[in-house]
Amino acid sequence: MRIEPTNAALGADIIDVDLSKALSKNEFTFIVDAWNEYSVLRFRKQNLDDKHLVNFSKLFGPLDMAPTGRGGTPFDPTQPEIAVISNIVVNGKKTGSLGNSELVWHQDMSYVEIPPKASILYGIEVPPTTGNTSFYNLYDAYSSLPADLKSRISDLSCKHDATRNSAGQLRVGYSESYCNEERPGAIHPLVIRHPETNRTALYLGRRPNAWIPGLLTHESDTLLDTLWHHIDTHNFTWTQKWEKGDLIIWDNRCTFHRRGQLDPNERRLMHRTQIGARQPPVAAFT
Ligand code: OGA
Ligand code: MN
Repeated sequence: MRIEPTNAALGADIIDVDLSKALSKNEFTFIVDAWNEYSVLRFRKQNLDDKHLVNFSKLFGPLDMAPTGRGGTPFDPTQPEIAVISNIVVNGKKTGSLGNSELVWHQDMSYVEIPPKASILYGIEVPPTTGNTSFYNLYDAYSSLPADLKSRISDLSCKHDATRNSAGQLRVGYSESYCNEERPGAIHPLVIRHPETNRTALYLGRRPNAWIPGLLTHESDTLLDTLWHHIDTHNFTWTQKWEKGDLIIWDNRCTFHRRGQLDPNERRLMHRTQIGARQPPVAAFT
């Protein structure tokens, strides 16, 4: 097993490993060390069924149950940890989540008190040209901030909006009209300390409906816009162009991800797991 870094701001391939087989303790430690260094790992040319995917995912920690959506039933009741991400429609029925939408930069479920530590996507059917997934290094986002901005945000928090998904759509059961104080969501520090690497990362979740408690709405918007302008004008990214059999794990504490444009005529099917965290995001400076 060996590491081949992307040489972009984050991401590495782990080569010569078959994830359908049990890993030794040393092999898994090698993978975790690489993951802590590169934040996103890709394993190409895998041939996994759902059991393999769940077994590998569980090595990183207890799994979250997949969101059930549609009337509270998982996609496959025998594999409740597996979420299906797909744009495929059969007889007018969606077979998975997220459809054809382009997604905004986001961290998964930052609107809950203890957001997941990682998510895993495994490519089963991949579109020939569209539907790439990009990743963004939030350690670099923080370290490259101007000093005055670093000190301005060092003890501020952000409220993360629970009402919209990463495609910007209103979730079932929520309404449009909340004031910042009443909008459902969780409050987390803007600058966090990664519990494993001890490195400092910006923690922004996503832009829509974000709010910095303690600031007036227009002050909060100005500051958040400045931070997001920094994100958008720095290229701390790497883009995954999917091949069938790719498995990607991202660290949800120190990276954003987003899907680019997806041609509705190109079929895309991924199976997904999500690994729970033990603790909420911790402020870097207290
Ligand atoms: C996710 C997600 C992006 C993609 O599964 O959390 O944002 O490219 N997916 O499908
Ligand atoms: Mn996501």
